[in-house]
Amino acid sequence: MTTALHGPVFRADPHAVYRAMREEAPVHRVELAGGVEAWLVTRYDDAKAALTDPRLVKGVLHPPRRMDLPDDVHSSITHHMLSADPPDHTRLRRLVSATFTPRRIEALRPRITALTAELLDAMDGLGAADLIETFAFPLPIAVISELLGVPMEDREAFRSWSNLVTSPGDRRAEAPRAVIALHGYVQELITQKRKAPGDDLLSAMIAVREGGDRLTEEELSSTVFLLLIAGHETTVNLIANGVYRLLSERDRWEELRARRELLPSAIEEFLRFDSPVQTSTVRISAQPLTIGGVDIPAGRVVMVSLLSANMDGARYPDPEQLRLSRTGTPHLAFGHGIHYCLGAPLARLEAQIAFTGLLDRFPNLRMTVSPAELTWRPGTLIHGLEALPVTGLTSR
Ligand code: HEM
Repeated sequence: MTTALHGPVFRADPHAVYRAMREEAPVHRVELAGGVEAWLVTRYDDAKAALTDPRLVKGVLHPPRRMDLPDDVHSSITHHMLSADPPDHTRLRRLVSATFTPRRIEALRPRITALTAELLDAMDGLGAADLIETFAFPLPIAVISELLGVPMEDREAFRSWSNLVTSPGDRRAEAPRAVIALHGYVQELITQKRKAPGDDLLSAMIAVREGGDRLTEEELSSTVFLLLIAGHETTVNLIANGVYRLLSERDRWEELRARRELLPSAIEEFLRFDSPVQTSTVRISAQPLTIGGVDIPAGRVVMVSLLSANMDGARYPDPEQLRLSRTGTPHLAFGHGIHYCLGAPLARLEAQIAFTGLLDRFPNLRMTVSPAELTWRPGTLIHGLEALPVTGLTSR
């Protein structure tokens, strides 16, 4: 089963693997790295129920550490809302939401547009390139730097540490050192913002007070790490997966160029069809429970495949057809329940600006390889392509 989520069939077409699971064993037993056994929920109704089930919790989790880090570093990157249960979760989410407001996100629009234009300018004239490397990957980290108020002169260092922290594969071995460097930088940045607050999210998170409550040092630093990790590769793959689908059925690219009013529903369809967060983060069964007719004892690891749930034919007619104007059941790509993605409005805004920029600037964009030649990244967390080689990077 582990091989099912890593092997060549999966890398060629993850949807095919999940289709078989939904049909044959919708609550599937899988083995995670380190030999941990987990239950993977693959159908839409079961997924939604699991994500709101209070018996599936975070707090009792003591997973093996993925990285060898000093205790103080580990502690100041893990005290965030995504690893907390109520009432801690409620408190952390309330404090951060008070600063990460719709107004703050909307205020970023001109800067996101400018950052997008800078990347498009740099690509213009290249002719051919990997769209992930040149566009989808650098944009979200630039936006997060802007959101947090990372000074211009530090952005390059911030970006390279972040890339090492979030990058999979060959460079994984460098991650612990990058986490330590980034942790040091974040502490420094917090000190700077305390002395001289700016008009940015980090300064607002330092200042936030609610009913006498505030974020501790550990929570502040952990939340910066969470925003960085949660907002980076996820958005990369919303952009890249969406462009991939449009170019692999190129009529859809032309359709969206001609009918820009479809962009909001098209973005929701990309999120459904190729959910960038393939599987929810893990939960533990605090009590025995039954999901989809399968009995799960207490103390077991449970994960929800958002990608699979969003392709469930019981909820979506012709799930494997890309329909830019699809309506009906909302997708679960941003999760569901108390941990529903806090950054969803920002991700949607970034995607709107990114797709508009590409459609306007490079009308002749095409893939240089056939879909069969592309590979999906292995593993359970992120659903994204290894690379997306394109041509047509010349504006009219
Ligand atoms: C949580 C998806 C972008 C911040 C989540 C969860 C999902 C998700 C599925 C819930 C995980 C779970 O329940 O185990 C996505 C996708 C994105 C995206 C698909 C882009 C397309 C962002 C951005 C930010 C962000 C841009 C902020 C900069 C968060 C935070 C949480 C979260 C803070 C934790 C919420 C909580 O625990 O209450 N996201 N995300 N995300 N996301 Fe996102």
